Amino acid sequence: MSTKRARLPDHGLSWEQIKAKMEGLAKDDFDWRAGRLGVYVFDAGEDVRAVARDAYAAFIAENGLGPAAFPSLRRMEDDVVGFGLSLLGAPEDACGDMTSGGTESILLAVKTCRDWWRARGDSARIEIIAPHSAHPAFNKAAEYFGLTVRRIPVLADFTADATAMAAAVGDRTMMLVGSAPCFPFGVIDDIEALSSIALEQDIWLHVDACVGGYFAPFARMNGVNLAPFDFALPGVRSMSADLHKYGYAAKGASTVFYRSGDLREHQLFRFGDWPTGEMTTPTMPGTRPGGAIAAAWAVMNYLGQDGYRAKAQTVVETRKKYERGLGEIGGFQIWGNPMLGLLAFGSDEFDIFAVAEGMRDRGWMSANLKQPKGMHLMLSPGHALVVEDYLADMVDSVAEVRSGSRIAVAGGGARYS
Ligand SMILES: Cc1ncc(COP(=O)(O)O)c(C=O)c1O
Repeated sequence: MSTKRARLPDHGLSWEQIKAKMEGLAKDDFDWRAGRLGVYVFDAGEDVRAVARDAYAAFIAENGLGPAAFPSLRRMEDDVVGFGLSLLGAPEDACGDMTSGGTESILLAVKTCRDWWRARGDSARIEIIAPHSAHPAFNKAAEYFGLTVRRIPVLADFTADATAMAAAVGDRTMMLVGSAPCFPFGVIDDIEALSSIALEQDIWLHVDACVGGYFAPFARMNGVNLAPFDFALPGVRSMSADLHKYGYAAKGASTVFYRSGDLREHQLFRFGDWPTGEMTTPTMPGTRPGGAIAAAWAVMNYLGQDGYRAKAQTVVETRKKYERGLGEIGGFQIWGNPMLGLLAFGSDEFDIFAVAEGMRDRGWMSANLKQPKGMHLMLSPGHALVVEDYLADMVDSVAEVRSGSRIAVAGGGARYS
């Protein structure tokens, strides 16, 4: 939020002037191109970025609100959704939409589930049961749509406690949530168990694969031994999967999927009582950036299955290198059993937030965890080039904290404002 008034320049600036100003504005940003950021950016390299940028620019004015005017966007979105459906084991009748991001995908799935229950005459179903590790977007949805969330503590391996979640199901339960993987620890919940509970108790199961949706399928093709987490499990009714994360698309692109078209019906917003007559929008915005659709479509076609598999291989190998390196430094514990590109770690021997601060001072930024106290890394292919540098700075940061020359002052935890 800003309350500061700013005066427009009296006369427009040249692009050269603007570019110089923008470079000046960006000078304090973390250098994600050099792999310095372990959060916010998913960098698959300059070539992929160029494809996304050019495709975005080519469709910068087109509006996804008007598929009749822009059948190009309609076709691209159909392809993108279709790629996702195939990757996530969706059955014949499944369908989905592109959205602006993981949060919108989750908001939509929650709203759709709520209205599905209402249509069944059960509007008392307003409670979402989620593992403690689920993304805050479920609480955002609950706050927006008049619902509640019950967060259930996770198991010792940081995955959802399916037994405790099953025990929590009651007359008011509308949705169970599992993550594949969750953001804090990067571990995949036992979706098989959640699917069985959802079937037994006839409750909607949403799998939040915002991080893993366009990563896990390729990791599995590469031989990573992942348990089923998608529509292959019959209790999964909806999924969210972000294109702007490991799909390497430009920001503003995610997908939400439903097991069948009759479920998605409850996602639609229809309104006719205004001068222009009936308006139907499937997702939350009106205007939708054509560039985001085009960039996702272009990157998916550019990388193809082989390209995504190669990126997944690089990221998984890189994560293992970080794990090995931290093990060699000593004093760290990796939380749970991460299998993709996220990992979180803490320590019983030294203050991990002091170490995080030391790393920040050395130009590395990532999220911190508070419960339990830990550091967090979300890796991209670009990190493969900087593992050694990161670990070398980690050696120094740990030494500093062990010797007592640095004590953490900040509270840690993630801030997103
Ligand atoms: C597991 C998970 N779900 C949902 C989201 C929300 O996605 P977005 O930031 O695109 O709204 C994130 C973001 O990191 C996430 O990690």
